[in-house]
Amino acid sequence: MRKKIVAGNWKCNTTIQEGVELAKAVNELAAKSGVKNVVVVLGTPFTHLASVVAAVDTNLIDVAAQNCAAEAKGAYTGEVSAAMVKSTGAEYVILGHSERREYYGETSETLNKKVALALANGLTPIYCCGEALSIREANEQNAYVKTQLEETIFNLSVEDFSKLAIAYEPIWAIGTGVTASTAQAQEMLAYIRGLISNKFGKAVAEETSILYGGSCNAKNAPELFAQPDIDGGLIGGASLKAEDFLGIITAY
Ligand code: PGA
Repeated sequence: MRKKIVAGNWKCNTTIQEGVELAKAVNELAAKSGVKNVVVVLGTPFTHLASVVAAVDTNLIDVAAQNCAAEAKGAYTGEVSAAMVKSTGAEYVILGHSERREYYGETSETLNKKVALALANGLTPIYCCGEALSIREANEQNAYVKTQLEETIFNLSVEDFSKLAIAYEPIWAIGTGVTASTAQAQEMLAYIRGLISNKFGKAVAEETSILYGGSCNAKNAPELFAQPDIDGGLIGGASLKAEDFLGIITAY
């Protein structure tokens, strides 16, 4: 059975001290509520990774970076490599988030390199895709997302592809309070699963975890997560408060 994943994306928020407190609070609440059958991931800033890994029960909570370098190592001032991320004890890396694509110019070419390095270093990429509002309004979202996938992770071998998770995050729903309707989210995730099936076969498609992201919260999560193709969520704002995040983790 494919994994259910609820991943927090803290973005550029919290100091190390605040992040460790938040991680401990999530850990405590998750342990108390007896969370089962859901992989809980905390996507922290690079600076926090090792401290958060040390602060949580890693049988209960996994830790993710929000990015990694497109080069393995060397003279790339300010970059953090996939090997460095892995050496902190983190198991996941969020790649291709729309904020990285939009504000930091990440292209499919860069993302191909990042995904390959993440996989080569034993990290699980949570690969993000999703369209802007203008594309949705023109009803071109399917073709847009298909291209995003074809230019990047559909180039992988079936073996490598089977190791990653996908997050569909419509840009118009991120941080806006506007969630995609359950029907819109389910429709896109079913479409993505169909594309995977055509490319890699039905068995692989059935095993791929596909998450929804964009203003997901404890209130709308139960309905979203009840859809057959939604295998969890990538959570921004609502992952910054332990109680709110727990409400999403326990939405299954
Ligand atoms: P949001 O962010 O939950 O605050 O909309 C989601 C994301 O960007 O991953």
